[in-house]
Amino acid sequence: MSEARIIDGKAFAEGLRARVGEAVAGLVRAHGLTPGLAVVLVGEDPASQVYVRNKAKQTREAGMHSVEHRLSADTSEADLLALVRALNADPAIHGILVQLPLPAQIRAETVIQTIDPAKDVDGFHVVNAGLLATGQEALVPCTPLGCLMLARDTLGDLSGLEAVVVGRSNIVGKPMAQLLLKESCTVTVAHSRTRDLPAVCRRADLLIAAVGRPNMVKADWIKPGATVIDVGINRVDAGEGKTRLTGDVDFEDAKAVAGAITPVPGGVGPMTIACLLRNTVVAACRQRR
Ligand code: GUN
Repeated sequence: MSEARIIDGKAFAEGLRARVGEAVAGLVRAHGLTPGLAVVLVGEDPASQVYVRNKAKQTREAGMHSVEHRLSADTSEADLLALVRALNADPAIHGILVQLPLPAQIRAETVIQTIDPAKDVDGFHVVNAGLLATGQEALVPCTPLGCLMLARDTLGDLSGLEAVVVGRSNIVGKPMAQLLLKESCTVTVAHSRTRDLPAVCRRADLLIAAVGRPNMVKADWIKPGATVIDVGINRVDAGEGKTRLTGDVDFEDAKAVAGAITPVPGGVGPMTIACLLRNTVVAACRQRR
């Protein structure tokens, strides 16, 4: 069989960001409305600093208003909650993202539930999770939304497909399962306690790997011709003191079996920020209503 089609998430994300930019220009022109995104970073986690910098840069490039709040690692929960409440009340801000993980003295769940659900562009608030689960208009978490866009671009109509999601996090696995249910897939959510995980994965026409373990999903876990979406972004030792990024799927072997597969980097990763920008525009439009 021929090698898998490599799904170009970087190119798709560039196209999505361009469409978001056009939507922003239209909102500015028609309504004088510039969507605004506030990103809050507590502490100096190096990976988080890179993400936050990229988010702010791409927000500005899309023509939106970008605000960054950088707080010291010893910030109290009360101070962070006060900032979130101020952003909730700020009419120039339509989206609020508090970068995770947070330092130990701050309860992430309390912070997330304090964000106005209408401005919750991460889609982590229980109101948005509940709206998604009941098939209503929600703000949808960015990473699973990006995975869905790539799956639909690759496969077209997903109705009736066997979809297996490996991973049950609130951020990726659970909302991914909800989105695929809405697409009328037959959805299985597998996880670390699943019995015979390879056999469960082999049922999948569409396999989403979101476990955070480098190269865990092997080629013989994949049904020939299946579409494989790899959410993993794992930093591993590349020798000579260097590191490199690798996914949750053993890509080199898997691409000989799969019909289509996302690479790491250049697959799901770039979609996440593009979907964040899209969610900010959606949030701004809904707040006008
Ligand atoms: N940290 C890693 N990914 C994410 C994300 O999607 N949202 C937030 N808020 N923090 C993160």
